[in-house]
Amino acid sequence: MKISGKMSLSSRRWLDRQNNDPYVKKAHDEGYRSRAVYKLAEIDDKYRLIRNAKSIIDLGAAPGGWSQLLVQRSCDGAKIVAVDLLQFYPMNGLIQVIGDFEDEAVQSEIMSYTDGKADLIVSDMAPSTIGHAQTDHLRIMRLVESAYYFAQSALASGGNFVAKIFRGGEEKKFLDSAKKDFQKVCFFKPKSSRKVSSEIYMVALNRIPQ
Ligand SMILES: C[S@@+](CC[C@H](N)C(=O)[O-])C[C@H]1O[C@@H](n2cnc3c(N)ncnc32)[C@H](O)[C@@H]1O
Repeated sequence: MKISGKMSLSSRRWLDRQNNDPYVKKAHDEGYRSRAVYKLAEIDDKYRLIRNAKSIIDLGAAPGGWSQLLVQRSCDGAKIVAVDLLQFYPMNGLIQVIGDFEDEAVQSEIMSYTDGKADLIVSDMAPSTIGHAQTDHLRIMRLVESAYYFAQSALASGGNFVAKIFRGGEEKKFLDSAKKDFQKVCFFKPKSSRKVSSEIYMVALNRIPQ
């Protein structure tokens, strides 16, 4: 957006999309911090991941839509750790960790809350995109692989892992390699994820004891 008050074309397009998006309105009306909440809601409606999880890690949590749903749908006493590079408003029932989840110190802090025994790790992390599809794809794949590597030490046996990916060629190989670690691995495209977006979610269920 330009300081003069005139908008760039891309800002105008973004604003038009926001104004015409039913999920943006729904999130506002229902008190959610982001439209992203409906994607996790759809994933959870299908795979029932949240209600039995006693220890949950939310990677890339700001501004907190997914965290709100995790707090709402998890059982009493569930420990939920939400991590982001950015500060966001605190929430009852949520432990916030602000920092780059790839930093060793940040990972140790997360693990100190979950004892390396999370039942569910969700990642809606996205790197800053540049609009070049292949570059954006490779950047998010690197981030997802890093989250997956972290899950090797942070996720309990029987635990579940969900992560956002931008399609672009490498995702199938990644999904296939995850089959050695989980009983079931699949892709899921929520209806609330824009059709024009290459975004898709990897859902990995029931971690096999290592
Ligand atoms: C699409 S937003 C998440 C939206 C969120 N799930 C919600 O429902 O409100 C992606 C987030 O990933 C975060 N992120 C990207 N890379 C990260 C990293 N290395 N460590 C922690 N957070 C990261 C960004 O700061 C951004 O807030």
